[in-house]
Amino acid sequence: MPRLAINGAEPVRTEPFPAWPMDLEESARAAAETVRSGQWGSIQGEKVRGLERRFAAFQDAAHGVAVSNGTTALCLALQAVGIEPGDEVIVPAYTFIASASSIVMSNAVPVFVDIDPDTYNLDPGRVEQAITPRTRAVMAVHFAGLSADMDRLGEIAAGHGLAVIEDAAQAHGARWGGRGVGGLGAMGAFSFQSSKNLNAGEGGIMLTNDDDLAAAARSLADCGHAAPGPRYNHYRMAGNNRMTEVQGALLQVQMEHLEARADRRHDNGEYLTERLGALDGIEPVFRPAKADRHARHIYMFKYNGDAFGGIPKTRFIEALRAERIPASPGYSIPLYKQPVFRDRNYGIYQRPALSAVDYDALNLPVTERACYSEAVWFTQNVMLGSREDMDDIVRAIAKLGDHRDELREAS
Ligand SMILES: Cc1ncc(COP(=O)(O)O)c(C=O)c1O
Repeated sequence: MPRLAINGAEPVRTEPFPAWPMDLEESARAAAETVRSGQWGSIQGEKVRGLERRFAAFQDAAHGVAVSNGTTALCLALQAVGIEPGDEVIVPAYTFIASASSIVMSNAVPVFVDIDPDTYNLDPGRVEQAITPRTRAVMAVHFAGLSADMDRLGEIAAGHGLAVIEDAAQAHGARWGGRGVGGLGAMGAFSFQSSKNLNAGEGGIMLTNDDDLAAAARSLADCGHAAPGPRYNHYRMAGNNRMTEVQGALLQVQMEHLEARADRRHDNGEYLTERLGALDGIEPVFRPAKADRHARHIYMFKYNGDAFGGIPKTRFIEALRAERIPASPGYSIPLYKQPVFRDRNYGIYQRPALSAVDYDALNLPVTERACYSEAVWFTQNVMLGSREDMDDIVRAIAKLGDHRDELREAS
């Protein structure tokens, strides 16, 4: 008699986890009201301005500049701090492509550095080793919603005159030492793309505590305009990267719920970590105490196939999904193995300093392990579930462990 759902037995769950996005009626009313107001653009409207103030305050930053998406926020943040053609920017390779493509699209060169095996965030010791005379910045990705080690990265950057750009695309509500991320380095960039913990379909924002960087970012977001100067005077080369008022309205609705949801994701993450950590072959990714709120855009644990009798991660995930636990293998290759880097297909961003780099020859072992055999993800909507939902996750994984022989035989 099979015991596992992958072999036809009853799954652990039948109910779905919370759907994302939420607040559909409230959002529809806010969007309709904005449409009816006739103020659709952010130049005249108040929704985007209000969001900028509110989100910046929520993350403990002085300034917010909303833009069309998170990739643009990263590109403009790099430009605002003065990255120049040929400069090197240190970045992890276990992250979304935009962490690195924004560097290429700023005419600079990504230098990939391995992640820490415990936190899956940039390993500060390796950052230090990768610094050259051409290094100008470090992209501190708060991966999965866990703050990078901003103390050590800040010290290293200060010691070498580097800017720290925070890729906080996944880190709404995340804190480091009691302070919101995004305003801890020179500039931070968040995404409001539909999977994110704050969602307008698309959208992004830059945060900073520096008045001059804020002015540069606002100008870069708005055709090189310099507020409050004449609208048709342009002072720097920049496109139109503005957010619309409807996006601003949708995001303002979710701001009402962000604190409570951020706490819930964090608390569920702590609970899961305690329970999953007790299972053989499962090691939750470590949260340092100073990262005192984890945004849990992704809940991640390390799967040890050896403890499961050699069952590969892909098979483990298939079996978990059959139990109706929506697990994901996450990124399947490191960024430096992506075809765009392998084939040096940089289009208009082609530069001698970039084409000279043989990214395909790189091997960052912790990143490769995470991609190929180790990392398992649950998305943020799962982390909004109840305690019973979390218990189901634990029960399903424990069930696979208990019946590893059945899983192996059928694979
Ligand atoms: C780590 C990271 N950086 C940057 C981005 C880019 O944001 P967007 O999709 O809004 O351009 C994302 C999200 O997709 C991300 O996860």
